[in-house]
Amino acid sequence: MDKDKIVELLNQDLQDEHGAIIQYLTHAYAMGEGEMACEIEANARDEMRHLDWLAETIVELGGVPSLKRGKMLMGGKSVSDWMSNNVRLEEGAIKQYQEHIKAMDDPKIKRLLKRILSDEEAHRGDFEHFVEKSQREGAKDIRGDRQDKVAETLNWGIEHEYTVVLQYLLHSYLSPNKDVKQQMEDQAINEMQHLGWLAEEMVGGGGNPRIEHTKVDQSTKTADMLQADIKIEKEVAAAYDRASKELEDPGLKKLLLRIRDNENYHIDVFNDLLKAEEKK
Ligand SMILES: [Fe+2]
Ligand SMILES: [Fe+2]
Ligand SMILES: [Fe+2]
Repeated sequence: MDKDKIVELLNQDLQDEHGAIIQYLTHAYAMGEGEMACEIEANARDEMRHLDWLAETIVELGGVPSLKRGKMLMGGKSVSDWMSNNVRLEEGAIKQYQEHIKAMDDPKIKRLLKRILSDEEAHRGDFEHFVEKSQREGAKDIRGDRQDKVAETLNWGIEHEYTVVLQYLLHSYLSPNKDVKQQMEDQAINEMQHLGWLAEEMVGGGGNPRIEHTKVDQSTKTADMLQADIKIEKEVAAAYDRASKELEDPGLKKLLLRIRDNENYHIDVFNDLLKAEEKK
């Protein structure tokens, strides 16, 4: 199989990992605190690792990791329906990985896909168990449909955080600069935390997190990437600062200021990286 074809298949897998992450996070957030939500979130974290391994392999082959979101099964009236959807999503992934393992010649890539496949098989078992467990325990969707200024601000934040998670991951995959790679990956994880905090705040306050993203910077030169990243950080640090002053709830104020301080830290880190990159 030629490289382009391998990259195409791996990108298909990567897109579906992306879809699975969002599907599982949506469920975990919607259920609020609790053991099952934690376990679903842990499965989402496994899918993040898969996404990471696939993206690194694609880059090693000279390809570009896709940012498209793949298959999702988001319907269902009850938590138990959602868990059945998750079983079906895992079954689709298992079938696709089995096909891709057969199609690959490279032993290293075959081995990687087999490694991922074993996780998907475990996830299928988890979700099968959750179909029954959610019925038995009466697990509920605790989201509301809050539509005020707070909900608007939180959804703005979620949209931003999701966008920079994708952007920083892409930059970390595409930059040849080792320090940039490492920092971008680290900060992407921090942005992922922000997304989680905001989504949990939203659900706790009777809202419904909308997990969609806006345009991701696709620069190919490291300096251009860092410039785009600094620009977006400056904009959002200012926006979080403004929002923290406008909103009344002291807990929410504190949360937004904590995120703002993290964003200011990102600006400093990225500025240092940009200076070092420009000296090269
Ligand atoms: Fe996966
Ligand atoms: Fe953030
Ligand atoms: Fe940031």
